[in-house]
Amino acid sequence: MKTVDTLNRPLRDLRISVTDRCNFRCTYCMPREVFGKDFAFLPHKELLTFEEITRLARIFVANGVEKLRLTGGEPTVRKDIEKLITMLASLEDLKDLTLTTNGSTLTKKAQALKEAGLDRITVSLDSLDDEVFKSMNDADFPVQGVLDGIEAASEAGLHPIKINMVVRRGVNDKDILDMAGFFRGTGHILRFIEYMDVGSTNGWRMNDVVPAAEIVNAINEVWPVEPADANYFGEVAERWRYKDGAGEVGVIASVTQAFCRDCTRARLSADGKLYTCLFSNFGYDFRKLLRDGSADEEIAEYLRSVWRIRDDRYSELRSEQTIDLPKVEMSFIGG
Ligand code: GTP
Ligand code: 5AD
Ligand code: SF4
Ligand code: SF4
Repeated sequence: MKTVDTLNRPLRDLRISVTDRCNFRCTYCMPREVFGKDFAFLPHKELLTFEEITRLARIFVANGVEKLRLTGGEPTVRKDIEKLITMLASLEDLKDLTLTTNGSTLTKKAQALKEAGLDRITVSLDSLDDEVFKSMNDADFPVQGVLDGIEAASEAGLHPIKINMVVRRGVNDKDILDMAGFFRGTGHILRFIEYMDVGSTNGWRMNDVVPAAEIVNAINEVWPVEPADANYFGEVAERWRYKDGAGEVGVIASVTQAFCRDCTRARLSADGKLYTCLFSNFGYDFRKLLRDGSADEEIAEYLRSVWRIRDDRYSELRSEQTIDLPKVEMSFIGG
């Protein structure tokens, strides 16, 4: 029987954070003042093992999940990540296995990820201007390093490749057309993400957001676009196709056009807590069940009971009053 939440939404998509660490310090995600030398990342024994992750994933897939996305932090810094991918790729009934990365390790790892069974990949890239990009990643990582990573992923066959650009007013909004022009016609799908008030450390204000409609208009003036249908129920990105046949771009308007109504996503932190919303501050402890001898069916029943009472719709309720509430950090549960 299909389990739905209080708003009649099924569980389809599980995002698994495999580490809370990252080799970047993006100012909007892991600002160095907070995530500095003394920051207490999870110790290794707190992390779910690959066996534990795979066991949970199998239970989730048996309860409706069709897509798994590995996230972090930066998922490719978890040691032997390709072994986990091999284990997950063998799950029957799984339709889509993908990963979101900052791209910095792909020249070394793309081939191994593909061989392990990864279907496709999403790479974050916020600007083509080295100065802007470095100021955003705060790790002195050059644009070319990510572009080489995208190329490596493409050669490895991790298609379709999606590129995520988080747009912040006054920081990288002037790079929107550059990015669109660069990725048009490459077969890769660029998506612009409205900057969100996730976590409690990035100092978000509404004025920082460039509305998706403004982005689409700016592109349309240079390269006319038309709307395209969603690829699947609950797709986060709104798709726009270039009228001249040069492919498509997407916008993820989680601030100006919330998509909670169709939200089928759950997020598992690296230490095994399940968050039913990106903006939640409470995680259900699945690691405890994995380590106390609970049977698969008991874990499955707990999952169904958690999902049945879910009523999250943070983005729809967002207001100046909610933005300062405590929330889990994005680097802890992935994007
Ligand atoms: P596809 O499977 O390729 O359609 O990917 P996706 O759109 O689920 O992918 P991705 O992980 O790249 O998500 C892109 C961005 O959208 C994330 O980094 C978040 O910024 C935002 N996002 C994704 N899911 C949610 C969500 O449930 N709520 C909100 N508010 N934002 C989300
Ligand atoms: N708002 C929107 N997107 C964000 N990401 C990280 N922090 C934010 C934020 N505050 C994006 C990253 C990456 C994905 C994991 O989440 O750029 O594409
Ligand atoms: Fe790392 Fe991604 Fe966060 Fe940047 S946005 S600090 S690359 S996890
Ligand atoms: Fe889903 Fe929460 Fe995002 Fe709404 S805010 S789309 S409920 S994760």
